[in-house]
Amino acid sequence: MTKKSFTIAVLEGDGIGPEITREAVKVLKAVEQKSGVVFELKYAPFGGQAYFDTGASFPEETKALCDAADAILKGPIGLSHEQSKKIPVEEQPERGGLLPLRRRYMTYANFRPVYLPPELAHFSPLKPRVIEGGIDIMMVRELVGGLYFGGKEQGVNAQGRRYVKESLDYDEDQIARIMHVAFKEARKRKKVLHNVHKSNVLMSSVLWNEILEEIAPEYPDVEVRHVIVDAAATLLCLKPTQFDVMVMENMFGDILSDLGGGLLGSLGLMPSACIGEQKSYYEPSHGSAPDIANQGIANPYSMIGSVALMLEKSFGMDEEAKAIWAAIRDVFGAGYTTPDLGDPEGGQHVIETSAFGDRVAGAVLGA
Ligand code: IPM
Ligand code: MG
Repeated sequence: MTKKSFTIAVLEGDGIGPEITREAVKVLKAVEQKSGVVFELKYAPFGGQAYFDTGASFPEETKALCDAADAILKGPIGLSHEQSKKIPVEEQPERGGLLPLRRRYMTYANFRPVYLPPELAHFSPLKPRVIEGGIDIMMVRELVGGLYFGGKEQGVNAQGRRYVKESLDYDEDQIARIMHVAFKEARKRKKVLHNVHKSNVLMSSVLWNEILEEIAPEYPDVEVRHVIVDAAATLLCLKPTQFDVMVMENMFGDILSDLGGGLLGSLGLMPSACIGEQKSYYEPSHGSAPDIANQGIANPYSMIGSVALMLEKSFGMDEEAKAIWAAIRDVFGAGYTTPDLGDPEGGQHVIETSAFGDRVAGAVLGA
C-alpha cells in the first residue's frame, strides 16, 4: 500500500525557479486531491539568492529540512554573470550549493529523459523524417564522480606559469552501481543499452568498460552497444531514434543531456531525477534563465516533469506519474505553449507560465 503522506523539501532556486516551481506545486496539489495522498511541503532557501540572504548557497536550515524530507524538489539555480562575480568562486551556487547537495545525498544516478512525443514534435529543430515517430531516450548520467568531484590542484609551476589540474576519478564500485541502474532501466524499456565512453583515450573509460563487461552477464536479456562519446553526439543529431537507454559518466552526461535538450527544441523540456541510496532529489536539467525571469514567459514543463519523476521513483505512485505525463501531452497537443518556447508552427495558443500550469493541473484533475 502506498504511504499516505510524504514530506517534500521544496527549494525554489533562482531566476525562473520560483515561478516554475509554483506551477509544479499546483500539479502536486491536483494529484493530492485526486489520490488522497498528502504532500507536506517545506520551503527552504537554496542557490544564489540564498547566498545573498543568508550567507550560504546551501544554508544549514535547508540541510536540516532536506535531511528530514522524504524527497527534495529543487528548482534551477544560478545567477547572471554579473551577480555571480559578487560571490567568492567556492561559494557560487553551483559549487557551493548544487554539488554539495549531490554529494550530501550521494545522488549517483541521474535520469534525464529526452522525450519528444508527437504532441511536442513541432518544437524540435530536427526534420520530421529524422524524428520519425518521436524521440524517447533515457540518459543515465553518473552524478557524483569524475571530473566534478576529483582531486583539484592549482598553482604556479617551475617555469613560473599558472597551472591547474583536475582529475577524473572513478573506482569500480562507483561504476558498478550506475551500471546496475542503467541495466535495470534498459530491462524495463527496450532492452538495449548504449554505453557511452572514450576508451580510445581515457583510462577511466577503459575501467568503465571493463566493469560493464563484468556486469553484463547478469543481464543476458539486455543488448549492449558501445558508442564513443563524440560519435554519440553526431548520431544523436542524425538518428536519435536508434537510442533508448544510454549510460555515461558525469561530464559526458552533462554535455550530451544538453544536446538532448537541443534535440527537443529547448532545455525547458528537460526534467530530471537524481537518485541516491537513501534520498533523491528532482530538478530541471537547465539553468535559472535570469534573463526571462519574472515575466510569466517560462514554460514549467521541466519542473512538472520532475514532479512526475518524483512520484514514480520516490513515492511509488506510477499511475499518478503517468497521469502527469498524459496531462502535459494533452496541453501541448491542444496547441498551448508559452512565450519562451513559442510555436515554430505559428500555433495560436501562447499562454503565460501560470495559465500553462493551470491547464496541466486541470488535465490531471480531469483525468
Ligand atoms: C546540470 C548543470 C550542472 C552540472 C551545473 C549547474 C553545475 O549543468 O545539472 O547539468 O554541470 O551538472
Ligand atoms: Mg548541465
